[in-house]
Amino acid sequence: MSKRFTITAALPYTNGPIHIGHLAGVYVPADIYARYLRLQGHDVAFICGSDEHGVPITIKAKKEGVTPQDIVDHFHANIKSSFKEFGISFDNYSRTSAKIHHETASEFFKTLYDKGDFIEETNAQLYDAEAEQFLADRFVVGTCPKCGNEESYGDQCEACGTSHNATDLIKPKSAITGAIPTLKETKHWFLPLDKHEAFLKEWILEGHKADWKPNVYGQCKSWIDDGLRPRAVTRDLDWGIPVPVEGGEGKVLYVWFDAPIGYISSTKEWAQREGKDWEAYWKDEDTTLVHFIGKDNIVFHCIIFPAMLKAEGSYILPENVPANEFLNLEGQKLSTSKNWAVWLPDYLKEFPEKQDVLRYVLTATAPETKDNDFTWKDFQARNNNELVAIFGNFINRVLVLTNKYYKGSVPTPNDLSAVDTETLEKVKSYPDILSKSIERYRFREASQELMNLARLGNKYLADEEPWKAIKTDSERVQTIMYVALQIAAALAIVSEPFLPWSSKKLKTMLRLESPTWTSVQRGDSLLKPTHQIGEASLLFAKIEDSEIEFQLEKLAKSKLANLIAKKVVEPQKETVSFEDFSKLDIRVGTIIAAEKMPKAKKLLVLQVDTGVDVRTIVSGIAESFTAQEVVGKRVTVLVNLAPRALRGVESQGMILMTETPEGKLVFVSPDASHETTNGLKVS
Ligand code: 2FM
Ligand code: ZN
Repeated sequence: MSKRFTITAALPYTNGPIHIGHLAGVYVPADIYARYLRLQGHDVAFICGSDEHGVPITIKAKKEGVTPQDIVDHFHANIKSSFKEFGISFDNYSRTSAKIHHETASEFFKTLYDKGDFIEETNAQLYDAEAEQFLADRFVVGTCPKCGNEESYGDQCEACGTSHNATDLIKPKSAITGAIPTLKETKHWFLPLDKHEAFLKEWILEGHKADWKPNVYGQCKSWIDDGLRPRAVTRDLDWGIPVPVEGGEGKVLYVWFDAPIGYISSTKEWAQREGKDWEAYWKDEDTTLVHFIGKDNIVFHCIIFPAMLKAEGSYILPENVPANEFLNLEGQKLSTSKNWAVWLPDYLKEFPEKQDVLRYVLTATAPETKDNDFTWKDFQARNNNELVAIFGNFINRVLVLTNKYYKGSVPTPNDLSAVDTETLEKVKSYPDILSKSIERYRFREASQELMNLARLGNKYLADEEPWKAIKTDSERVQTIMYVALQIAAALAIVSEPFLPWSSKKLKTMLRLESPTWTSVQRGDSLLKPTHQIGEASLLFAKIEDSEIEFQLEKLAKSKLANLIAKKVVEPQKETVSFEDFSKLDIRVGTIIAAEKMPKAKKLLVLQVDTGVDVRTIVSGIAESFTAQEVVGKRVTVLVNLAPRALRGVESQGMILMTETPEGKLVFVSPDASHETTNGLKVS
């Protein structure tokens, strides 16, 4: 029976492009789900848009000397086109700067205001006197009161996920000027979450214990157990939606108040365009509402937004909020500021027409229950060993052999063997296997089941060997190829949510038009005898080592740039004259003996053959090198440095050392031609 679904995907902030973490955590699973529901014949509104308010956008605009509007215009276009290019099949992609959104969010606020659902309170908030600005959200950093992270933002700690008020921060500091904030009185409107505690407890803790993902349920429980407190939903800022009530002049709605309402306004925009009734998608109890988000958004979608919807009174609540954990890249947290990411526009340039490959790999390694790692080697292996070697190989064999043996006309099967029947029965069971996983938001598992169907096809051909049988039993080959063609057709249909381009390409190759998901479920003949298929072309291509190396080199460059940026470079010392420099007598020597200086952590006592003599040099390198490993090393020695007593041992010279960009202490070695130096450092 056809049902109505409203599927939302977190509105991305428009302060940067989209990367693989966003895609894996939110947009690919949401898209698989929406496409799957449409294939079932359900009525789906798949909704998203750009989140264009909030402090990070203002900060970026200030840094770049442009307006926040410039920033959001640029990234809205950039993000919207990335989603389109990756086949994220939103029914509507709106933006929170749209008029319809300003109106919808203002109206929502006014409704709650008129109903007396806010607490209006004037109290002291953090203020930066130098910038003449109140410090909310990302304008202030300090120590998280819950986990001790010293870089928590005013509204949320990224280390522990806690959402708090800026005044809760310990040792707050302005992110604008670095100043220690003062307190200044200002009026705001607060959503009394404490008043909704009983409802939230019952709705989540009792109602959704079994069906929400453990990571989502666990976060909600910990929030509720800690006790809910009123949350300010307005801010003293000039970028955002003006507070639409008396006394709200110069203030805007908190970005997390307006953003989720963006789902509603985007639905309205879509409904207006399509001549539909938006209210059915948000207010009809028969509609299923599902929010796809990342784990840092859980509290806003499971506690705050539902409290807002409930307070308003006419809306349905989400049936599920399948939040994912985070994706790391090559073992490190994805980071925009550190350029540690795979950006979608870059990926498309470097791997043109390989959107399905990324979609597949991100699904197969999705961080569904815990943080997970994306590695380029794994990307290559999944492409070459699964998409190419299993899926692509099977399809190619079926198409090539059908064209070769029957000029592309589907053969009439003869008697089915037990293996044939069993194989066709298995094919028939796949839609339900996939449904079970997808409906439980287990997209990873679903992607592996899809590959298992391709494996089934590959194994069938490998076992039945039509290329051998053709010489002796052409009747049997007709049956084998007929069965193999049914598997190929089933793959074309059920792969659509995961691999939309490949599914389309395969359908074109097979000239498959009408069969649906239910045809596969029923075990219909998907490609009937005498149906004419088209030419074979490759579905997937091998990814070469050089392409992966290129990506790894790009990341290595980012890593190096970060290390250099992080390094505090000591200022250059005063210029020395050439005359002074030429007074230094620098020679190549060999360390012939070494021992640790007793009771000194840093010092080694070295015997160095300088070519002039053998002398004692005390060197502060013991934390980087052991005595044993330096013996035999050729080094550069300053031999005419005035002798100096160190812990009672006279040091008669100095070994020259330097640091690599990674901060590792190395010898200025006369034998190493490749070492980078960034200024000599004397130990
Ligand atoms: O975390 C983010 O990127 C937010 N912009 C998500 C907002 S989701 C919703 F509420 F709009
Ligand atoms: Zn914290």
